[in-house]
Amino acid sequence: MPELQRLRADHAPDLLAFERENRVFFAASVPDRGDDYFTDFATRHEALLIEQAAGTCHFHLLMAGDSGEVLGRFNLVDVADGTADLGFRLAEKATGRGLATSTVHHLFTLCTTAYALTALRASAAVTNTASRAVLTRTGFVPTGEEVQLSGKRGLAYVRELPAEQRP
Ligand SMILES: CC(C)(COP(=O)(O)OP(=O)(O)OC[C@H]1O[C@@H](n2cnc3c(N)ncnc32)[C@H](O)[C@@H]1OP(=O)(O)O)[C@@H](O)C(=O)NCCC(=O)NCCS
Repeated sequence: MPELQRLRADHAPDLLAFERENRVFFAASVPDRGDDYFTDFATRHEALLIEQAAGTCHFHLLMAGDSGEVLGRFNLVDVADGTADLGFRLAEKATGRGLATSTVHHLFTLCTTAYALTALRASAAVTNTASRAVLTRTGFVPTGEEVQLSGKRGLAYVRELPAEQRP
């Protein structure tokens, strides 16, 4: 049973392997991170943990049981005033079985119980059908605002978090 874990220092090697193995898959939907991301990975990982400790981001990995294998990452960034931006990516081999949808639902519980969030924002390229399907299934609604995502036309979404899920 996959488990959602808050990002830690010791996740670094498994996270790097996940990003390397799925680099081509991700680049078909979202901008490639570039070679520097991989060579400077350790420094960047430390920087993410510092941001997380400051409370401006909450990073999560979806781990496959005890194997240490990373199946996905689900990140909340720009945390402020009870809101945050959601981003996610799943290993290619883990797609197509509803894992992104179920994990976003699980994340909502964390958002309301642990992070005191009342709304999430997200955006997806118009052409990113899988991402838009996940957002729609998890109750995100388009704001009507168009955004540019690395030169691609994108849609902005928002998801209010229901009061009954708040602490
Ligand atoms: C987007 C992503 C997380 C979806 O993961 P997933 O676990 O496969 O998502 P789910 O199974 O929960 O739901 C995806 C739905 O979109 C559908 N879908 C996927 N690709 C599709 C396509 N090209 N056209 C139409 N529907 C598509 C899936 O079939 C599924 O619906 P179904 O269950 O009715 O078949 C994954 O594809 C991914 O990581 N992509 C690369 C990175 C990325 O795009 N991240 C989002 C950036 S905004």
